Amino acid sequence: MEEKRIATRHIKVNPTCPEAEAIEEAGRILRAGALVAFPTETVYGLGANALDGRAVSRIFEAKGRPSDNPLIVHVAGLEQVDFLAKKVSGVARELMGAFWPGPLTLVLSAGKVVPDEVTAGLLNVAIRMPSHPVALALIRAAGRPVAAPSANLSGRPSPTTAEHVLHDLDGRIAAVLDGGSAGSGVESTVLDLTAPVPLILRPGGVTPDDLKGILGEVRLDQVAQTGVYIGASPRSPGEKYSHYATRAPLWLVIGNPEAVAEKIVELAGEQQASSRRVGILTYSDSRDFSSVGEVIVAGRRDRPETVAAELYAALRRFDEMRVDLILAEGLVEQGVGLAVMNRLRKAAEGRILQV
Ligand code: TXA
Ligand code: MG
Repeated sequence: MEEKRIATRHIKVNPTCPEAEAIEEAGRILRAGALVAFPTETVYGLGANALDGRAVSRIFEAKGRPSDNPLIVHVAGLEQVDFLAKKVSGVARELMGAFWPGPLTLVLSAGKVVPDEVTAGLLNVAIRMPSHPVALALIRAAGRPVAAPSANLSGRPSPTTAEHVLHDLDGRIAAVLDGGSAGSGVESTVLDLTAPVPLILRPGGVTPDDLKGILGEVRLDQVAQTGVYIGASPRSPGEKYSHYATRAPLWLVIGNPEAVAEKIVELAGEQQASSRRVGILTYSDSRDFSSVGEVIVAGRRDRPETVAAELYAALRRFDEMRVDLILAEGLVEQGVGLAVMNRLRKAAEGRILQV
């Protein structure tokens, strides 16, 4: 790939009440076909004008993203959904009423206006309305829907600060709107409404129980559950690729919390004995592992939303610490814990120890 560096503008904005001038400028950049990273209530996104296939293709170049992995289109009003989707069912409208703006992405059948670059040639389009004031203001200023994946280099942990974005994409994108830390820290729930029974392709901040209130029945995609892709054609192309990868291999230890802690102490001890530096991802209501490794405490185990908020920053910190190996303590796969464990399972790429 050609390496042409551009000067990336770092534009600070007030996250709750963004300055009109900064937003107008970012909107102009998007309309001109260039890329702007921006905060959402999940993670930072890398935006392009969703109706301009050439602009969208620049996202794939900047991230090094495989071209068969489609993008989520971000909207600021329901009329944009009617414009993008071929038809919008009553259930889809109910879900929008209940969870938008917010971290729920709906996969609907795509209208003709959606460029192939956005859907990666699929017949469906993924749409969400973010709740972050900067994201909403930017989409309005652009005057069109904004296609945006997470603003990281493909395969790396998603960015939750503008610094993470610049670490990965400085020189590759026109601008980043810096509104401080992004919100919840894990990406939106992706729900496929074109499946016979609504199917969660990626768990996120909106949980299966939240959805059951409206849908009655909802299923969790097999790949989303296990984090392991085993060759079948996935409904969500993103499932095929490695995600959230740390520099050092990450091992996820799951099972009874006491047994998990014992296993981590045992493994870390062995590694230290052979002079390897061990990173340990743990929680403030877990055991103190500081005598056996280099510990990062990410939230509380009994409040998985606090873990979500710190997870990607923790994975990036392990890279900076240059540990040789990471041991991560598993969480209960319930509520937001399901989304956090999905990300940890992916980061582990099959290196899962059940004790
Ligand atoms: O919270 C989020 O969703 C963030 C922020 C920026 O909005 N965005 C995000 O985008 O996480 P990305 O590209 O990193 O992940 C989008 C996921 C991928 O796994 C992709 O394969 C799936 O959604 N996806 C997108 N369009 C799809 C479609 N038409 N059918 C099935 N899956 C789709
Ligand atoms: Mg991503």
